[in-house]
Amino acid sequence: MLDGRIQELESSLLARITSARSAEELEAVRVEALGRKEGALTLIGKEMGKLAPEDRKRVGALLNGAKQKIEAALESKGRQMADAGLRVRLDAEWIDLTLPAPGPRRGHLHPMTHIQRELEELFVSMGFTVLDGPEVETEYRNFDALNIPATHPARDAQDTFWLEGGNLLRTHTSPVQVRGMEKLGPPLRMIAPGRVFRNESVDASHEHTFYQIEGMMVDRNISVAHLLYFMRIMLTAIFHRDVNVRLRPGYFPFVEPGFELDLQCLLCGGSGCPVCKQSGWVEQMGCGLVHPNVLRMSGIDPEEWSGFAFGLGITRLAMMRYGIDDIRLLQGGDLRFLEQF
Ligand code: PHE
Repeated sequence: MLDGRIQELESSLLARITSARSAEELEAVRVEALGRKEGALTLIGKEMGKLAPEDRKRVGALLNGAKQKIEAALESKGRQMADAGLRVRLDAEWIDLTLPAPGPRRGHLHPMTHIQRELEELFVSMGFTVLDGPEVETEYRNFDALNIPATHPARDAQDTFWLEGGNLLRTHTSPVQVRGMEKLGPPLRMIAPGRVFRNESVDASHEHTFYQIEGMMVDRNISVAHLLYFMRIMLTAIFHRDVNVRLRPGYFPFVEPGFELDLQCLLCGGSGCPVCKQSGWVEQMGCGLVHPNVLRMSGIDPEEWSGFAFGLGITRLAMMRYGIDDIRLLQGGDLRFLEQF
């Protein structure tokens, strides 16, 4: 009687092992067949004690044979499943090592850096030296040596970040004029690009931190004609086309006469648009002939030498050239903006 049950169990278990589809299913069959307590074949083994001794040997052999076949089937099916799993993973994670590598992503320069470098190259080609000055300046070079004494109302025009010990964050690149005169003496041609700071509230057209480029030329008999010549060359180079400029009187204590230089609006050609506020002109920079006091304070004799100076916002240039209408974009660090350049 046991013989029949063993044979039946053996063939049904083997069939289920063959058709098992997962490791869990296979494990369930194993427990059902060979589990220590409730396994079907285990239970039969426990019943063997009741058999007559002459039957015990035959049934025992039959039972062992069945267990061995089932163990072997479980093992081979398990291995087969593991192999199939590995093949699936290998297919999914396959990498074609013969494909060319994508290569490193190339970075690029910030739009203001482009403009700064172009200006440096242009002025160097005309005999100018590029000077650098510190962002933390002395009150003397930022103001006094530029003919702006402590009592001068022009100090209020540039809201200053004062630092401990009387130093400040430079409000313009003009202190580098002073450094240039001290260092080079006359005759001299220099430019000084750099970052400047003003204690202003930020909006679409005002930043507390922005970039300027300063220029100065000191020689004999320098006049407004020289100033205009260089300004027109500079703006033509930046905007890659002929530009129209005009001078208006402008007040800066370190130049006399002083001017505001306007550029005929590049967006509307002078007929009036929102960018030029319908005036046809866009204010571009301050400039003028170096004030005799400024030359004198840096040890240059104004009877013998004269010069021009200008200062303009690289930030403003970038906005004009690329049609950017919000100054905050330039230093906001938003890659969607930066990747356009
Ligand atoms: N430093 C002035 C400013 O920041 C610009 C300027 C520079 C004007 C040189 C005249 C001469 O507004």
